[in-house]
Amino acid sequence: MASSSSPAYYQGSFLISSTPTRCYLICQPCSPRPHRRKQNGVRCSVAERRLLFSRIAPVYDNLNDLLSLGKHRVWKKMCVSWSGAKKGDAVLDLCCGSGDLAFLLSQKVGPNGEVSALDFSWKQLLVASARQDQSWKSCYNNIKWFEGDALNLLFDDTYFDAITVGYGLRNLIDKPKAMKEILRVLKPGSKVSILDFNKSTSSFITQFQDWTLENVVVPVAYTHGFSEEYKYLKSSIADFLTGKELEELAKAVGFSDARHYQIAGGLMGNLVATA
Ligand SMILES: C[S@@+](CC[C@H](N)C(=O)[O-])C[C@H]1O[C@@H](n2cnc3c(N)ncnc32)[C@H](O)[C@@H]1O
Repeated sequence: MASSSSPAYYQGSFLISSTPTRCYLICQPCSPRPHRRKQNGVRCSVAERRLLFSRIAPVYDNLNDLLSLGKHRVWKKMCVSWSGAKKGDAVLDLCCGSGDLAFLLSQKVGPNGEVSALDFSWKQLLVASARQDQSWKSCYNNIKWFEGDALNLLFDDTYFDAITVGYGLRNLIDKPKAMKEILRVLKPGSKVSILDFNKSTSSFITQFQDWTLENVVVPVAYTHGFSEEYKYLKSSIADFLTGKELEELAKAVGFSDARHYQIAGGLMGNLVATA
């Protein structure tokens, strides 16, 4: 499936690789050049982002449930449904984290389908593969976990029937490059479905979002010892693209169609783009 250099992947608790395991993990580059930006006191180099996601890996799922009152599960189901994934498909979940979307995709495509799930944090991947191990659902055997960079995908051109990205694009430093890579590995006519916080053009929604982040999200994260990590959220949303800009970006890189849907009263958004 994937290109010539046969990448390593996790299945259950095992990392399967034709190359020495740790070497693969360490050598996989995150970005061709270092990027560093400082906003609102939050440092954002690629290495720091990777560290941040690795640090929060053990509490990430619990915090998601707590902070969204479980609603992120509904939004993720919507995201998978918008991707158009169906039985027997080969699908990809980019920036998979602990695997929520990959598990939903797995049920959609069934045992005859295949799910590739990619993230640059091996700690997140370990949480994901442990969840796969612990599940009784046999269809979850169709998931492979890849450690890699969303900006340099290890997969062949036009391989996938559908792609999902949950709360990932906002964290990528080069969004046009990410969209080009997604387009490259999608079959013509197939869809990518990208769920994330909505960068709203409504000042009411933006103020409400900011208030929630400052007064709910960061204090709750503080109780888990991760307030600094969650402060990064606010600046990453401010730096993100509005729904219209996301549609324009998708069309500019070559997608034939792009629609952005606001969900959760405009707090979240989902871009659906057709290759
Ligand atoms: C906010 S989490 C979302 C996880 C999961 N998709 C979800 O919705 O629960 C963002 C994920 O993107 C990953 N990530 C960030 N930049 C990446 C990159 N350049 N390549 C691959 N993964 C990346 C992080 O490690 C993290 O697991």
